[in-house]
Amino acid sequence: MYGKEIKKVLITKDQIAKRVQELGEEISRDYNGEPITLVCTLRGATLFFADLVRAIEGDVEIDFIACSSYGAGTTSSGEVKMLKDLSSPIEGKNVIVVEDIIDTGTTLFYLKKLLETRKPKSLKVCSFLDKPSRRKVEFKGDYIGFEIENEYVVGYGLDYNQKMRNLPEVCVLSPEVYAED
Ligand code: IMP
Ligand code: MG
Repeated sequence: MYGKEIKKVLITKDQIAKRVQELGEEISRDYNGEPITLVCTLRGATLFFADLVRAIEGDVEIDFIACSSYGAGTTSSGEVKMLKDLSSPIEGKNVIVVEDIIDTGTTLFYLKKLLETRKPKSLKVCSFLDKPSRRKVEFKGDYIGFEIENEYVVGYGLDYNQKMRNLPEVCVLSPEVYAED
């Protein structure tokens, strides 16, 4: 079904739908009717975000943020640059940052530190995927869809060179396609 650039399907459409529903129910239960501001990190989390928002019951606002991580591989500082800030203040709000994947941990470590300075009432992180074996900065998400091995994945919003975000399943990229950094 896919070309040779895809090694295999890792997570099917059904598995994604089921897990996103579970995460939505868990979040709805935890916040128990309190208002939540869900922050989508562009661009990778968009598809997950759209599904997750609809799986949460209650009082929800949405906002968007874009950061670029200078990948811990390219600079030692691993610093994160803000490309697009939130549209609304988050002071006093229950914020959940929704991310596609926690890899080295760099992006979320810095993003969380930055958002904390704005004094939200609470700040949590929900990531669709987690690759704990790749961590360079200690970071733990509060809600995780799936924990995966150290393989480069694409689809359901995740890209390789901005391509393949539209695949409806999470697929492992063939190692021949990319050079590990
Ligand atoms: P970090 O290393 O935890 O800062 O992750 C930064 C970003 O790298 C993630 O938000 C993704 O956009 C991207 N990324 C990491 N691993 C993968 C992958 O396997 N597929 C696609 N994107 C990835
Ligand atoms: Mg990302």
